[in-house]
Amino acid sequence: MADNIKVAVFPGDGIGREIIPQAVAVLEVVGRKFGHQFNFKSGIVGGAAIDQFGEPLPEETLRLAEDADAVLLGAVGGPKWEGMDYAIRPERALLGLREKLGLFANLRPAILYPMMADASTLKREVIDGIDLMVVRELTGGIYFGKPRGIEKFGQEERGVNTLVYTTSEVERIARVAFEVARKRRKKLTSVDKANVLEVTELWRKVVISVHKDYPDVELSHMYVDNCAMQLIRNPKQFDVLVTTNMFGDILSDAAAMLTGSIGMLPSASMGGQTDKDPHGYVKGMYEPIHGSAPDIAGRDIANPLATILSAAMMLRYSFGLEKEACAIDDAVFNVLEEGYRTPDIFSEGTQKIGTKEMGDQVVARLKEWKVVGS
Ligand code: IPM
Ligand code: MG
Repeated sequence: MADNIKVAVFPGDGIGREIIPQAVAVLEVVGRKFGHQFNFKSGIVGGAAIDQFGEPLPEETLRLAEDADAVLLGAVGGPKWEGMDYAIRPERALLGLREKLGLFANLRPAILYPMMADASTLKREVIDGIDLMVVRELTGGIYFGKPRGIEKFGQEERGVNTLVYTTSEVERIARVAFEVARKRRKKLTSVDKANVLEVTELWRKVVISVHKDYPDVELSHMYVDNCAMQLIRNPKQFDVLVTTNMFGDILSDAAAMLTGSIGMLPSASMGGQTDKDPHGYVKGMYEPIHGSAPDIAGRDIANPLATILSAAMMLRYSFGLEKEACAIDDAVFNVLEEGYRTPDIFSEGTQKIGTKEMGDQVVARLKEWKVVGS
């Protein structure tokens, strides 16, 4: 039994406030069922924090995240805060947490549930059986490179961002990707733009050198534009993709849509396996890959499954609770199998339900779950 697992819970903005309670309810029932004690502490981030404290990531929230064993995050941002200075935009909370907690490795699995094929905009034969993982570098690249900003430039202005990676930054994300691939189908595709950008020429060189330690994994390289095309043309060729912060941001949205809806894709952000605390926990942040969707917020129509599946990833990657994570994955599978759908994944012949009801359905399946051997 895992005791007193400290989870910082940051709903954030928009639909974040509706989907996070569903994931927390799921974790609570898992705790009761399997005998673990979760200690949830809520914090304010993003636009909500700007409104209340004048900054997206208040000191108190950051401290909560630092003290916790894992962070469960909803989404941040909305039209209300657009146009503000970049330094205090809601998105800064997300980037600040990633940076301050050193979460350089972002895992974004895209799996097509067979009964969901009709929800995708692509043909069934193209997407059937998709099971791929995007490993996105998360604390470097153009998101964090300096110099950055908008400056006066003669009569006009000039905007600057810098795409920069060091050998060690590439090496550590490559190692994570090879480790992930090793536990899967042992195929890694490194995505770069080495035909144009020197920094990704270095990226490719470093990935090739790390490959020497993983001869059992098959490595290939692909330019990002081709990769975008291949994801739509023949996504089944991929097992694990490893790429830079920005390419990973873009490609993971594309990968998400293959599975029917961006509302289905969870993510895990970690600092590497070396950061285990005395309990053996690995600090991580878990969040859906979608945004705060202000256009549908407050209407009980958002899909909570990406967040619920993120909670499963948390159990698996931070706490080593594989059985419990599988129980959540199975519960989600069963609810979909029975035909329940939020509007984003609705198709003819299925039953449309709201955010809360979807959470309740998953909780109900977990309550029925039999712990083998008890
Ligand atoms: C994501 C999001 C974020 C990102 C935004 C909200 C800052 O799009 O997690 O993919 O670009 O990383
Ligand atoms: Mg994104």
